[in-house]
Amino acid sequence: MNDQPLNDAAPQPEPLFPDLTRDDVFRLETPRLWLRWPRHSDVPALAAFAGQKPVAEMTGTWKHPLPKGEPERRIFEARKANATGASLVLALTPRARPNHQIGQIGVGRSKNAGSEAEVEIGYMLHPDFRGQGLVVEAVQAMLNTVFSYTDAEVVGAWARVVNPASRRVLEKCGFRHAGSALLDQPARGGMVPCDQFLLDRKTWRALVSWGQAAPARSGLQMIADLVPAAMPPQAC
Ligand SMILES: CC(C)(COP(=O)(O)OP(=O)(O)OC[C@H]1O[C@@H](n2cnc3c(N)ncnc32)[C@H](O)[C@@H]1OP(=O)(O)O)[C@@H](O)C(=O)NCCC(=O)NCCS
Repeated sequence: MNDQPLNDAAPQPEPLFPDLTRDDVFRLETPRLWLRWPRHSDVPALAAFAGQKPVAEMTGTWKHPLPKGEPERRIFEARKANATGASLVLALTPRARPNHQIGQIGVGRSKNAGSEAEVEIGYMLHPDFRGQGLVVEAVQAMLNTVFSYTDAEVVGAWARVVNPASRRVLEKCGFRHAGSALLDQPARGGMVPCDQFLLDRKTWRALVSWGQAAPARSGLQMIADLVPAAMPPQAC
């Protein structure tokens, strides 16, 4: 018989995300994408891109070849973290085919001690869908969510120094290069040289308001379009 008191569980960290994102009906809509919670039925689609060497080798945690059962495990972990509000991991799907996952994006607390960023963002896309600006759209939607619904003041991202595509995505979303460091990435076999990128709340707010003022539709206008009209000013 287990006679441990019921309240003896280890203390859980404060959730990063609010109730709104912690239900699997939560969705983000961009001009061309739906971003929704990952599901078990996404396993083949997730394996189809995360299992590709050029995708995995640019990430810090995805091994190549993909270990057996890894997509199932990742989806389970993502749903658990989404439900507790510890992170927000969303599947990228074309708006016309919301059951067809083509990429993934996630935000969670920074694991790099001493980083100025409280939270970090990561993403990947099926190579067949690259070069269309889809990840820029997804990152903008996630930034809007983070700055609207969490207290984070600075969002960070890391890109391998040999990853100009990711660097470009971050620059187009308003991130600034904040230095380089060797990161321990066991999935890549050890220490890997990476660039750090940061975006603070103040800069994001300026980008959104410039986007609203710009005469032509642009990446910044897309950020502005993603800001909910009813959002209270203190929330962003
Ligand atoms: C990084 C990644 C998500 C970018 O996806 P994408 O859909 O091609 O991104 P976008 O189309 O939104 O933008 C890519 C930008 O990088 C540029 N780019 C792509 N490859 C490049 C290269 N080799 N050198 C310089 N720029 C490059 C593109 O020209 C584009 O910029 P532009 O719009 O100014 O022309 C995708 O390449 C990927 O999944 N990579 C593997 C996983 C990964 O790197 N994850 C990030 C870990 S930090």
